Amino acid sequence: MAKTESALNPLMKHRKRLNETTMRELFAADTGRFESFSASAGEILLDYSKNRIDAGAMKALIGLARDAGVEARRDAMWAGEAINITENRSVLHMALRYGGDQPVRAAGGDDIMPGIREVLERMRVFSDQVRDGSIRGATGEQFTDVVNIGIGGSDLGPAMVTLALEPYSRADLRLHYVSNVDGAHMGDTLKRLDPKRTMFIVASKTFTTDETMTNANTARGWLATALGDGAVNDHFAALSTNLAATDAFGIRQDRIFGFWDWVGGRYSVWSAIGLPVAISVGFDNFKAFLDGAYQMDRHFLETPLEQNLPVIMAVLGVWYRNAWGFSTHAVLPYDQRLSRFAAYLQQQDMESNGKSVTLSGKPVQWPTGPIIWGEPGTNGQHAFYQLIHQGTDVIPCDFLIAAQPHEHLPPHHDKLVANVLAQSEALMLGKTKDEVVAELKAQGLTKDAIKALTPHKMFPGNRPSNTLMYPKLTPEVLGALVALYEHKVFVQGTIWDVNSYDQWGVELGKQLAKALLPKVEGMTGTEGHDSSTQGLVRHYLALKG
Ligand code: F6P
Repeated sequence: MAKTESALNPLMKHRKRLNETTMRELFAADTGRFESFSASAGEILLDYSKNRIDAGAMKALIGLARDAGVEARRDAMWAGEAINITENRSVLHMALRYGGDQPVRAAGGDDIMPGIREVLERMRVFSDQVRDGSIRGATGEQFTDVVNIGIGGSDLGPAMVTLALEPYSRADLRLHYVSNVDGAHMGDTLKRLDPKRTMFIVASKTFTTDETMTNANTARGWLATALGDGAVNDHFAALSTNLAATDAFGIRQDRIFGFWDWVGGRYSVWSAIGLPVAISVGFDNFKAFLDGAYQMDRHFLETPLEQNLPVIMAVLGVWYRNAWGFSTHAVLPYDQRLSRFAAYLQQQDMESNGKSVTLSGKPVQWPTGPIIWGEPGTNGQHAFYQLIHQGTDVIPCDFLIAAQPHEHLPPHHDKLVANVLAQSEALMLGKTKDEVVAELKAQGLTKDAIKALTPHKMFPGNRPSNTLMYPKLTPEVLGALVALYEHKVFVQGTIWDVNSYDQWGVELGKQLAKALLPKVEGMTGTEGHDSSTQGLVRHYLALKG
C-alpha cells in the first residue's frame, strides 16, 4: 500500500497541535479524560488517557487504520487467505483457539477444525496421563521433570506461559525450558535431573533448527547413557509440523503431536507447542488460556475500531513511531510472573514487523516496528526507569497490573499497585521548576544549593503510557493479553504495509554459522572471510588450544 507515506503525513498536523500542550494541561482541562480514553475487552481495561492525544488525533489515527484496510485484511486473515505472501501461507493461529462451530478453511481447503480438535484431544489425554502417572519412564518411575527443548516460538511462548501460570502448577512436576545451543543451558539443566524421572519434549515447527536438534541429540545421549538406548522411546515426545523428521529422530508415533504450516512459530503457543503448558497446569487450564484468547479474537473481529483494544494500542504505537519518532516501546508488567512477557513480545513484535520492504517488495518510506523491551516492576524502577523519567529519549510504556494477587500476603499487592499507578502518574505529570524549588525550600536548603540542584531534580513529564488492568492473572486473562498483543502487531503490520508473518532476516546468520562451523572446528581454512572474521577465528583457535 504505497498510500502509507501520504496517509501518515496528516498525523503531523495533530502532532503540531499536541506538541504545544502537555498531558498535564489536557488532564486539567478535562475531568472526563479517563472515561473518554479508556476501553475494555472482557476482563481487561485499557486506560490510554495518559497519551499525547486528543479526540482529533484519535479520530485521525483510527481513520488511518480504517484507510489502511485493517478490517478487510483482518477478515481476509480469518477467511484463510494466504496473507503471508512470501511463503504463500494462510495465517490462522486464531483457529487454534476458536470456540465456535463454523468451519474454518485455510486457503479455500477443507475445514481445519476437526484436525485441531483431534490434536487437542490427544494433548488432553497425554498431559493427563503424564500428570496422573499412567505414563511413566522406562524404569516404571513417575515423571517429575519435563524438559522442553525448542527455541524462538517453540520456547518463548510456552516458557512465558508456564511461568505466568505458576499458581496452577504442581510442586511435584517441574517444567524446564532449554533453548540455547550454548551447552551451559542444557548442562546446567541436566545437572539437577534424574534420567529415570525426566521426559523430554522436542518442540520445533520445522524439526531442522540447529540449536534444537543439537540439544535434542545431547539429551538423547544423556538419557541413553543412563538408561540404555531402549529407554529413549519412553522418555521423548515431539511437537512439529515435520512429521517425517520426528519419525527419523526415532520418536514413537503416539508421542508426536502435529501442527500446520499456517501456524507461525511465534504464534504457535496455542498449538501442540503448548503441550508443556498443559502438562504443567493441566489441560483444563490450558484450554482456559485458549478460551481467553478466543474472547479477545471475538472482540478484535466484532468491535468497531474506535473501541477495539488491539486497534487502539496499534495506532498509538504508530503515532509514536511515525509522527513523534520514538523508536522503542517498553512493556512493564507489575506482575512478577510475567517476567518473560517482554521477551516473548520481542519475538512476537520484532520478528513480525522488523521489516523494511513493503508487501510489494519496495523499500518502506517510514519507520516500522519499534524496539520492544521491558522487565517487571517494581524491579525496573531501581534499574532503568531513571532513563524513562529523565533521559533524552521518550519511551512509551505499557503498564500491566492485576487487581487481585494469587497469594494472600498483605501489604504486598497494594504496594505493587501504588507503585504502578505512581509511575504512570509521574511520567505524565513530571515535576516543574516551581515545584522543585518549593520542595527544596521546604527542606530548608540555601538559595545556592537550590539553584544548583533544581535542574537535576526536574522531570520533563508528558511521557506517555498505557495501563492494562485485569482482575487476576488467570489462564483466561493471560490468553486474552497475548492475543491482544498479537492483533496489535497485525494492525501495525497492515498500516506499515509489511508482511508480519515471515522472518527472512534470521536466515543469513544461520547460513554463515553453518559455513563457519568447520572453520572454528579447525577443519578448514578461513580464506574468503573478511579480515575481522579471520582474525577472530585465528584468535579463538589459539585460545582454545
Ligand atoms: O529462526 C527463527 C525461527 O524460525 C522462529 O521464527 C521460530 O520460532 C524459531 O526459529 C524456531 O523454529 P522451529 O520451531 O522450526 O525450530
